Amino acid sequence: MEKKINLSDFSLVIFGGDGDLAMKKLFPSLYFRLKDGQIKTKSTIIVVSNNDKSSEQFREELSLNLKTKIPDHKPKWIDKLCGMVTYCNIELTIPENYIPLKETLANAKHENVILYYSTPSFLFSIISSSLHRNNILTENTKVVLEKPLGFDLESFEEVNTVIRQYFQEDQIYRIDHYLGKETVQNLMVLRFANHLFEMAWNAKNIDSVEITVAESIGVGNRKKYYDRYGALKDMVQNHLLQLLCLVAMEPPSILNADNVRDEKLKVLKALKKFDETNIQDWTVKGQYTRGKIEDEFVNSYQEDIDGYNSKTETFVALRTYVQNWRWAGVPFYLRTGKRMEKHYSEIVINFKHVPHNIFPDKVKIDRNKLIIRLQPDEHIDLVQMTKIPGPGGYRYKSISLLLDYGASIGEQFPDAYERLIMDVVRGNQTLFMREDEVRASWEWIHSITSNWTKTKQSLKLYEAGTQGPDTRIMEEGHEWNLQKHVNND
Ligand code: BG6
Repeated sequence: MEKKINLSDFSLVIFGGDGDLAMKKLFPSLYFRLKDGQIKTKSTIIVVSNNDKSSEQFREELSLNLKTKIPDHKPKWIDKLCGMVTYCNIELTIPENYIPLKETLANAKHENVILYYSTPSFLFSIISSSLHRNNILTENTKVVLEKPLGFDLESFEEVNTVIRQYFQEDQIYRIDHYLGKETVQNLMVLRFANHLFEMAWNAKNIDSVEITVAESIGVGNRKKYYDRYGALKDMVQNHLLQLLCLVAMEPPSILNADNVRDEKLKVLKALKKFDETNIQDWTVKGQYTRGKIEDEFVNSYQEDIDGYNSKTETFVALRTYVQNWRWAGVPFYLRTGKRMEKHYSEIVINFKHVPHNIFPDKVKIDRNKLIIRLQPDEHIDLVQMTKIPGPGGYRYKSISLLLDYGASIGEQFPDAYERLIMDVVRGNQTLFMREDEVRASWEWIHSITSNWTKTKQSLKLYEAGTQGPDTRIMEEGHEWNLQKHVNND
């Protein structure tokens, strides 16, 4: 198999292309794909925004940005990338303004046109209708949509209806950047290319599953956005649910976009919904107060968002079940939070206890665990009981068989956006969400938010730099993985 798939030339239009996402993620990703030879300089990148600047000025900004973001950059490739960029100063709400964009696209003469909407979703409608009025859309045009798609089920439907007015489902690429992470894709390989794990991947052998995405950062400069969304809608609705789907889904008969998405959808639909009887016991929401992270004092959430009495959660933990044959009765525990002690994401598969302890002294036998660490270090860790060498009676210890994924593969992992943008260019939707998946995830989220409101669920405060608030949501005998096995300490 070719290491990288060569692509035909394309025109990529980035709406909001001078914003945060483009500068932090999209352009650095394009730089690496160009340097790697996957993109050719004949492709065109058109940045659309309403700031009054020329292409020349924008290229200078971009060049400076890339030089700062990529410490070991090669100036030649930055110059080449900047040379591919044209800036169109367009007030997005005025359809007549789109003429320069139309002309730039016509000059580029590429059949493969990608529109990347890196703007708030309330602009999607006017951008799409203006493109339509100016005859810029064709049946080959692809559109890339960034999350969040809506704020709840109702607003998702509104945004989706607008988009579907102008694009067919096979033209739409709804991004969840977690699906572009190498370690997340490796989950599918781990499950479906290894007989060993798949044999045990069910309720007969698995006791519980934990998914943790912990961040030590706060809300940064996204105060308004974050305070409206909170951790449940910012992280659980998309990233954590996608991880859960990849852990729980059935093997598709063949790896293609619709098969994978059909299987993920079945998982989302099988998720147990919350109601007034379980919401209090199975969910916790929290908010950080002042604290210390890596010896630095950090502000409380209230201070970070300029101090008013916000009830937005910056932490969520919950228990749910996938109600089907494979997973009957197995709890899935999800948690995510900002300003936690450490930045790490991991999936822990806790296997069942051995059915019978044969050892005469009845020493406690720990459960096996498969820990799939997604970031910041990528590894797979199989925790197993082992005899401590030496004479005398049997003594045992849980130790780790650690596969350091990064080191064994011996390559630097590309950023998620490198993979995702290239997939859009070549028209592969496998790692993008289909509308029915997003709808199903909002439906499930609704069962949480509506019951939080009904039961007036309280917000637990937690000190920044800790593991979050007390989370007693687990079944008896279960507890969160403490990461102690990673170094065998
Ligand atoms: C984004 C959320 O989607 O994902 C952010 O909006 C969060 O709040 C980020 O910080 C986490 O992504 P990553 O790749 O750093 O784990």
